[in-house]
Amino acid sequence: MTQDLSNALLNDLIGQMHALTEKALTEFQNATDKQSLYDKKVLFSGKNGSVTELMKKMGQLTPEQKPQFGAKLNEAKQKIEQLYQERETSLGQAELSQKLASETLDLTLPGFAPDRGGDHPVHLVTNEIVDIMARLGYSARLGPMVERDYYNFEALNIPKDHPARDMQDTFFVDDNLVLRTHTSPIQIHSLEKDQLPLRIVGTGSVFRVDSDISHLPHFHQIEGMCVDRNVSMADLKGTIAFFVREFFGPGLKTRFRPSYFPFTEPSAEVDCSCPLCKGSGCSLCKQSGWIEIGGSGLINPKVFQTAKIPYPEWNGFAFGFGIERMAIIKYGIPDIRLLPENDLRFLRQFEF
Ligand code: DAH
Repeated sequence: MTQDLSNALLNDLIGQMHALTEKALTEFQNATDKQSLYDKKVLFSGKNGSVTELMKKMGQLTPEQKPQFGAKLNEAKQKIEQLYQERETSLGQAELSQKLASETLDLTLPGFAPDRGGDHPVHLVTNEIVDIMARLGYSARLGPMVERDYYNFEALNIPKDHPARDMQDTFFVDDNLVLRTHTSPIQIHSLEKDQLPLRIVGTGSVFRVDSDISHLPHFHQIEGMCVDRNVSMADLKGTIAFFVREFFGPGLKTRFRPSYFPFTEPSAEVDCSCPLCKGSGCSLCKQSGWIEIGGSGLINPKVFQTAKIPYPEWNGFAFGFGIERMAIIKYGIPDIRLLPENDLRFLRQFEF
């Protein structure tokens, strides 16, 4: 091959190479997404791409021309890679701005309100009772839920084997420990610890082996106790009448029925007129027009004697009401079992 011919070949190859880079530029510009851009790049500089094809023709060149052409080839490869990178960056930016435009946040949309908690109706009632009694000078007390037999029974004048124990079916922890069946043991703790005269209101959980339409095995009571000088049945009635009126409002009536409790003498049961039927009789009040809310009475001298409090120098009254009963009456709840079920649809009605 003459010098001229071989120069012509070299120039032709270099020309082809330039054409290739030009073509790559337009092809890359025409690519509309990253994947098709990449596919096109492979057609140029991939293993079987056009650049490799050109490289194969290098064999036809003279030994002096080969490195010259090799250098040009490398330049072309780098150029194609650079064009590819540039186009890829701009495609990436375009994709990102398109994504941002289609996924814009509307900051004016209302957010999701978090669920708010509220007090359980049993706690609402408990707090309200304690507040009312506080206005009469009563201070709040709690006590253990697991009680010694002495506090739950013995000191309240309910001796072992006494038939009165049958009134309260008891969960026994062992021979000497019980889940308290009422809040009356709080009376004994107070008589042991507090200074006379005293006015206390105790609240909390109580437990009985009992479960039916109007009884729960775990429920709540409030216990009131006043120890002072010359306390009479009239003081008890006045206190309860005030308390019931403040709690239920003026519409409900209360009545006292003679009864028996070992720790009071005399004793009375306290009833409220039924809020659902207003006294005419319904299933809530078992057709009687009245709902029993608890017991009361003047403290039995035997209780004072066991607590070593001089009687009749000091005397007093006490009462104990069921908190669920009071909630039912106040809110007109048709079934006591709704209270421990904790169905949110029910509980939400009490978030004030
Ligand atoms: N502890 C009684 C009960 O749960 C209720 C009771 C009655 C409490 C008379 C009293 C009271 O304080 O004087 O059945």
